[in-house]
Amino acid sequence: MEPIVPKNLKSEPLILGIESSCDETAAAVIRGRRILSDEIVSSASLQAKFGGVVPEIASREHTEAIDLVVSRALERAGVTKEALDAVAVTYGAGLLGALLVGLSFAKGFAYGLNIPLIGVNHIRGHLAASYLEEETLKPPFMTLLASGGHTAVIFTKTETEFEMLGGTLDDAAGEAFDKVARVLGLPYPGGPHVEALAREGNACVELPKMLKGAGGYNFSYSGLKTAVINYCHRKEQRGTQWSKADVAASFQSAALDILVQKTVEGAKEKSVNTVTAGGGVVANGYLREKLTFACQEAGLKLVLPERRHCTDNAAMIAAEGLVQYRAGNFSSLSLNAQASIPLR
Ligand code: KG4
Ligand code: ZN
Repeated sequence: MEPIVPKNLKSEPLILGIESSCDETAAAVIRGRRILSDEIVSSASLQAKFGGVVPEIASREHTEAIDLVVSRALERAGVTKEALDAVAVTYGAGLLGALLVGLSFAKGFAYGLNIPLIGVNHIRGHLAASYLEEETLKPPFMTLLASGGHTAVIFTKTETEFEMLGGTLDDAAGEAFDKVARVLGLPYPGGPHVEALAREGNACVELPKMLKGAGGYNFSYSGLKTAVINYCHRKEQRGTQWSKADVAASFQSAALDILVQKTVEGAKEKSVNTVTAGGGVVANGYLREKLTFACQEAGLKLVLPERRHCTDNAAMIAAEGLVQYRAGNFSSLSLNAQASIPLR
């Protein structure tokens, strides 16, 4: 099936973005890089009862929420669906059943309105979130990606060309936060809870350095995670007093300092003067402060998406939709959902 292609590309198109890859049902409308509406319904608190995301529950919740979320996004943007120039939707990576809800809905919209469908790679959406922060932001720049599924230092050459300098060899940063949270008895998703607990503690617990066994721009979280688990079990077995807050603070700095260091190193190596970041972990206040300080010290400009645009949202999907619209990349209505897709 041939994609629907616009007759003329507009410079400031009106794009509806839809996201349903995990436990957030989201829709947003942007005109150019300006956000007109940004709606989200999360099933995270329901999922928390199960200690993680149950795919069937996610699909069911998306099905119930999608119609309302999209209608609300159009209403709050003050536009009719007939005014839209394109529909951008996450087609991967993520939970297949969850992705299919958003994708099918977007296809119906695109077909019914005879406007282009733009399939968006969720990870590219996280990277594009920075464009919403600054209308004139332009590559090249160095990008830190840190989400629940990916952690990497990426050289963004152009809006559509990327070079992966390195990343995690095992767990993603968000995944490590979620696992450590479970050990500390904190609810899902663990990141924000670990961050809150860490604020009450000191980073005084000795944990292995993240660089061990991984050189260059690569790093590994498995040693750090195991060290935290062992530390907690040992303390519990011996019945000695210990502070969960100190463990949280120590883990947080060990897990995040390396990301700051590698990102700044990457910017210097590639001689770029700007740094951007994206992904759920970039909502972390400690990481944001450290990155701000390190960039200031190194004379680098930092463009950080707002916290709500770091965790899953539809504005970032619309932003990546705009990138693809301007590049003339439109999807066929036979586009399928994919559980995993590479960055390119
Ligand atoms: O980008 P995201 O919303 O979904 C994925 O595409 O994976 O990232 C979710 C991850 C979860 O692992 C969550 O614990 C983590 O981001 N996260 C945080 C914080 N907020 C969310 N990690 C550390 N500190 C936070 N404040
Ligand atoms: Zn995400």
